[in-house]
Amino acid sequence: MSARYVPVGWNASKLVYDAILLAVIGLYIGVFLWVAPRFQHVTLPLDDYSARMAAFGSCAFFLLTAILCIGPAARLDRRFLPLLYNRRHFGVLTCAVALTHANAALEWYFSYSPKDPFVALLSGNTSFAQAQGFPFEVFGIFALLVLVVLAATSHDFWLSFLTPRVWKALHMGLYAAYLAVVLHVALGALQTARNPLLAVVMTLCVLLVGTLHVAAGSRRAPPPALAATSPWIVAGPVASIAEGHGLVVPVPGGEPVAVFRHDGRLSAVSNLCAHQNGPLGEGRVIDGCITCPWHGFQYRLADGCAPPPYTEKLATFALKIEDGMILIDPSPNPPGTFVEPVAIP
Ligand code: HEM
Ligand code: FES
Repeated sequence: MSARYVPVGWNASKLVYDAILLAVIGLYIGVFLWVAPRFQHVTLPLDDYSARMAAFGSCAFFLLTAILCIGPAARLDRRFLPLLYNRRHFGVLTCAVALTHANAALEWYFSYSPKDPFVALLSGNTSFAQAQGFPFEVFGIFALLVLVVLAATSHDFWLSFLTPRVWKALHMGLYAAYLAVVLHVALGALQTARNPLLAVVMTLCVLLVGTLHVAAGSRRAPPPALAATSPWIVAGPVASIAEGHGLVVPVPGGEPVAVFRHDGRLSAVSNLCAHQNGPLGEGRVIDGCITCPWHGFQYRLADGCAPPPYTEKLATFALKIEDGMILIDPSPNPPGTFVEPVAIP
């Protein structure tokens, strides 16, 4: 939490996260480039550039798949939450791996071209009207541009400058980049592949991303309104929230609400942390304050304000309990509005 906006600095968990990520990438590339060829018995092995291109290209695709899976996986199972914590470094590393792939492609494809490699890349193939021989590189270029923009704006400064809403919308571009990479490979490498492995693995990855999103989305299906005229929506049974924990409640047409149980009373605030939109409902109450699971910003239960000297504020929501069920009025109160916590009968 911050009195003014202060970026979250490095800490031991971030270093461990990054070290594991680098080790996994290093292992993948090492096995692909130096171990696997020793066990391969083919008359025409891949040349160095093609091998580098395939190693870094496939690695970038798997990393991108993992990034897109982390969000829904963490919604479905809290044990994936630690992966969410430092997802931005994941993104920046993916961008670096993708850039290495693109660099290998430029070196290999255009090393004998009299033209500048970038000019050759953009003008070498203009068969846009046909699927066979389509200039699949354009999809790779688009995906790479998106990754570079997202990596460049991943710092907290940009989050603060662009506002969390715009920043989040910008980062949704990752889905467009993923689609572009799938087209890049489907119209490129898969057209000439003699081995079905790449096609099978890519299909499984795309199915995994899709399935996890559908499963996480259906969990967050908006609860029913009590009646067409009633503003109250059913959040769930009081018993579904353990002491000191929260419940994320999807709201039709709005941002989710986080309902917390503390000291035998219930309070509701916006589920979006004022720092980086972290999922507050997946956090806990620590020292009497809702504590964000991502970087530990804290908010008071009754008014959604960070304790002094900090200044962040969340929207609060009216609650009531009927027949053991929690009901929420989904219209948000202005951030920082006091709402008396509701005693659990
Ligand atoms: C300037 C951008 C890019 C260029 C010029 C480029 C170029 C290429 C080329 C020439 C190939 C080989 C196609 C073949 O074997 O017929 C390829 C394959 C591939 N690219 Fe890209 N690419 C770019 C960006 C990307 C990005 C951003 C990703 C992923 C995030 C990506 C993932 C892949 C994958 C997975 C393959 C298949 C590798 C394999 O054969 O196993 N590419 N790319
Ligand atoms: S503390 Fe960073 S998102 Fe909540």
